[in-house]
Amino acid sequence: MCGIVGYIGKSAAPPILINGLRRLEYRGYDSAGMAIVDHGKIVVAKAAGKVANLNDKAKAEWPASRFTESSYGIAHTRWATHGPPTEVNAHPHLDQSGDIAVVHNGIIENYRSLRAKLEAKGSKFVSETDTEVLAHLIGDRYRGDLFQAVCDALHQVEGTFGIAVISAKEPGKIITARRGSPIVLGIASGETIVASDASAILSHTQRVIYLDDNDIALVTADHVDIRDLNNVPVNREISELEFDAGSAEKGGHEHFMLKEIFEQPDCLRNAIRGRLDFSIGSSVLSGMGTSPRDLAEIHRVVLVGCGTSLHSGLIGEYAIEDLADTLAEVQQAAEFRYRNPIIGRNDLVLAISQSGETADTLAAVREAHQKGAFVMGLCNVVGSTIARETGRGIYLHAGPEISVASTKAFTSQVAVLLMIALKLGRARRFSREDGLAFALGIESIPSLVEKVLESNDKIAQLAEGYLHQQHAFFIGRGPMYPVALEGALKLKEISYIHAEGYHAAELKHGPIALLEKGTPVIALANDIPGKDKTLGNIEECKARGARILGLITEGDEEAAAVMDDIITIPACHPLIATIPTAVALQLFAYHIARLRGCEIDQPRNLAKSVTVE
Ligand code: AGP
Repeated sequence: MCGIVGYIGKSAAPPILINGLRRLEYRGYDSAGMAIVDHGKIVVAKAAGKVANLNDKAKAEWPASRFTESSYGIAHTRWATHGPPTEVNAHPHLDQSGDIAVVHNGIIENYRSLRAKLEAKGSKFVSETDTEVLAHLIGDRYRGDLFQAVCDALHQVEGTFGIAVISAKEPGKIITARRGSPIVLGIASGETIVASDASAILSHTQRVIYLDDNDIALVTADHVDIRDLNNVPVNREISELEFDAGSAEKGGHEHFMLKEIFEQPDCLRNAIRGRLDFSIGSSVLSGMGTSPRDLAEIHRVVLVGCGTSLHSGLIGEYAIEDLADTLAEVQQAAEFRYRNPIIGRNDLVLAISQSGETADTLAAVREAHQKGAFVMGLCNVVGSTIARETGRGIYLHAGPEISVASTKAFTSQVAVLLMIALKLGRARRFSREDGLAFALGIESIPSLVEKVLESNDKIAQLAEGYLHQQHAFFIGRGPMYPVALEGALKLKEISYIHAEGYHAAELKHGPIALLEKGTPVIALANDIPGKDKTLGNIEECKARGARILGLITEGDEEAAAVMDDIITIPACHPLIATIPTAVALQLFAYHIARLRGCEIDQPRNLAKSVTVE
């Protein structure tokens, strides 16, 4: 959602704030702003659009001294929730006095009633945002102690927040707090950074403190005082980030997405490393904190997630049922909490989330805890809220995923899910020999992906034949059905082509009415059980004039004969084939979007981490 940066230290703040926003722009980018204190006054610069617009505007409006003399400030890049993405709605927002500035990530559910009360007391609002109400509320509560005023104001708030606050009346400090939206503090020597996520901190330090829900902190250049909202001190450990600033750069690629697609062999090696035990033909996932006996008591696995993380969960469902002979089901995280799920102590709930901050998935985690289930997280961001609230689980170790379209996290999620299925299976009827064969298959995944990446130029050339389409259908069976869904999501979210994924058998039950001459059907016809039926579905599409791009297993002449275009995938176990097949579809979507001149890393209307329900 939104990106927050606060800086206080020995360097000039505005350039640091702008650079921090650039690193967070993938979280939301429809408007931006920053606030500093200059000669005892809060000064604010705001702009609609990208962070670059803010930088240009501040350079045009502010005297040069402001870029060199101010040593602290706050900034924000917005993904609009209340009020259109205009300059007036951009953060920071000020209180009535103009002496207090606030940036906020989250949603204040009761902002209308708060606004009415404040207007009755004389507040005049200039924006349509919930955040401006919070600024006025803090100002209304201010009695000479900013920390206490923020505490008092937040006690009135229902909803979620990650905030940073400065006041012209109390220079040299930032107040920050969180409930439901992440805040991380970067602890460097003589300077402190406040941010929505660690990517804005990496260039300063790898020493960080993650705030918990209902934490509030008073931050100065060399001190952090963290308390709860009742002003009681709390202890939060300093942790060390796994990655340095370089890992959040493009590495010479045109887009983060292409870099992250090509990083996948290494990311998959990181995800697999040390987690396979060939002596027992199983996986070693110490983060699960479970003995074989604990696993034997699990009667069902419920996988919850959103978007791409939902799709990896669907592959996990196939894998767990196939390898572990255990009931598994996927539930859309947003639905989970509201359907009063029938779960209990013998259910393992796997919360899948790259960011570890997705509000819908976090809500599902909390509901699963409430019902007494065994809850684990599959996250990429160490120390993220879901990782901490589940208390156990498996990190992907895929490194920062900057591009809004998830690629390396997806394939690492699938690899981890395959290892979970293997571990569960070996605690049941899956034999050592079968386990060993599957473990060797998992170990081969990085090289299978490298083989598909070698087809990048061919896929780029193929993409030229599909970039002017308005609609596209992705079809697959078995574990390739979720891959079809994921391929459609990749294409639609970065190229804006209307793409839908369907089970191959489903097309004839209605959607086939949409096929016209030349409509592209991307068919996952890998040599897996049901392929012959998929080939039949493809013939049904061809009979209606569709153009067929087939993803087929290397050497499968039968499948090749029915396709108009083909991408070959190395032969491997059907569950393992999901990963190289997905990589081919990532490249397909990327090149179409590139050829269409789309804003690939930051597609319109999207944000990297959806921290609102
Ligand atoms: C995927 O390309 C999208 N960016 C989106 O669907 C994403 O997967 C979803 O919002 C879930 O995010 P999470 O994995 O961080 O929870």
